Amino acid sequence: MIHRRFDGEVAIVTGSGRGMGKATALTLASQGARVVVNDIRAELAQQVVEEVRTAGGQAVAYVGDVSYESDVSAMVALAIQEYGTVDILVNNAGILRATRPLETIPLDEWELMMAVNVTGVFLCTKAVLPVMKANRSGKIVNISSSAGRSTSTFGGAHYTTSKAAVLGLTRHTARETAPYNINVNAIAPGSMDTEMVREMSTPEHMEQERQNIPLGRLGTAQDEANLVVFLCSEESSYITGATIDINGGDLMI
Ligand SMILES: NC(=O)c1ccc[n+]([C@@H]2O[C@H](COP(=O)([O-])OP(=O)(O)OC[C@H]3O[C@@H](n4cnc5c(N)ncnc54)[C@H](O)[C@@H]3O)[C@@H](O)[C@H]2O)c1
Repeated sequence: MIHRRFDGEVAIVTGSGRGMGKATALTLASQGARVVVNDIRAELAQQVVEEVRTAGGQAVAYVGDVSYESDVSAMVALAIQEYGTVDILVNNAGILRATRPLETIPLDEWELMMAVNVTGVFLCTKAVLPVMKANRSGKIVNISSSAGRSTSTFGGAHYTTSKAAVLGLTRHTARETAPYNINVNAIAPGSMDTEMVREMSTPEHMEQERQNIPLGRLGTAQDEANLVVFLCSEESSYITGATIDINGGDLMI
């Protein structure tokens, strides 16, 4: 029998109805993980679950908003009810709003960005830690952005700020949970060709972006999923509190 890296493990991937979260959920499931596919869009989450099952894997959908504590509690309860535990949490759900001058950002747009991109990561982490601490093992991967390392031509000040906050939260969580054998890391993707970027951009802007990337192309959802999967695996067991860049050489630091 072929040994798959995540056989017997349970993963929650937030915002996995499309884009990089979807690629991550499909890849984890293909390697044996049982996956909770979370999204606010029911039809997208259900479609990913169908894809996992068609490929012979196991998944269940949870439709809910990561910025609501009651939704997050229900999501973790579903994982435990269906699969018995939580081994992996990928905090992938995030939103982007088109770049605009800071002085024109409405307060409600700022607050929404913080709620989903920062509070969502806090709430999901808070909800899984009791299980992971009891297990004395766990992997948490937070999806930040090169915007949080530097700035972005796609998102505004609120996006940059929210993704920088994720890096601080990652480091703090990593230090606090290291004694429990829990690894917490962040990924900072550069410009990836997903619906998020296509919706907030123009083909001209994407082409301009492409020309600035040393490797000569935008990243794919699968490029990023491969890195997430590495950080969820035993092969990365000595990495914690780190931010790993994946950007085709666009930001070399
Ligand atoms: N695409 C890029 O270039 C890029 C670069 C750096 C970082 N990121 C980050 O990577 C992550 C995934 O990006 P993507 O490009 O795949 O985005 P995407 O918009 O294609 O997918 C995000 C998914 O999250 C879901 N979602 C949104 N708000 C949610 C909420 N409150 N609760 C649960 N689900 C929610 C959406 O419905 C969507 O299906 C995001 O955190 C994003 O900020 C993206």
